[in-house]
Amino acid sequence: MSVELRKERPTSVLDKYRGTLDCISPASFWPVDNLVRESAWKEYAPFAYWLAESQEPRTFVELGTHGGFSYFAFCQAIKKLALETKCYAIDTWTGDEHSGLYEDDVFDTVKSYNDEH
Ligand SMILES: C[S@@+](CC[C@H](N)C(=O)[O-])C[C@H]1O[C@@H](n2cnc3c(N)ncnc32)[C@H](O)[C@@H]1O
Repeated sequence: MSVELRKERPTSVLDKYRGTLDCISPASFWPVDNLVRESAWKEYAPFAYWLAESQEPRTFVELGTHGGFSYFAFCQAIKKLALETKCYAIDTWTGDEHSGLYEDDVFDTVKSYNDEH
């Protein structure tokens, strides 16, 4: 019987997460300002911050805003970075199969937080 012994190359933590680390910057660690409680986007705020910082967009358009978690995460970064980005939140404001159907109070709450900040 022959056994092949292979020496594994040690993987550093940096090697292991190299692709992931390309999308992380100090902005990724900012706390979330907005108070939107329900959103499938909750864990992606660091990505929104990094994306705004790395792209410095002149215009930001979100298609599908619902309660505004992701929209306000981008807006927070844009404001904090003092970018002159124009931000637009587009939605039917009636919901769909993912969010469920909802009433006008969703738009009213998003509009009022947007106007306030
Ligand atoms: C999953 S929710 C968006 C989640 C949101 N970005 C967040 O941070 O929580 C999807 C939204 O897309 C909207 N939507 C779906 N189809 C649309 C369309 N054709 N035009 C505009 N908005 C649409 C729905 O009304 C719903 O509010």
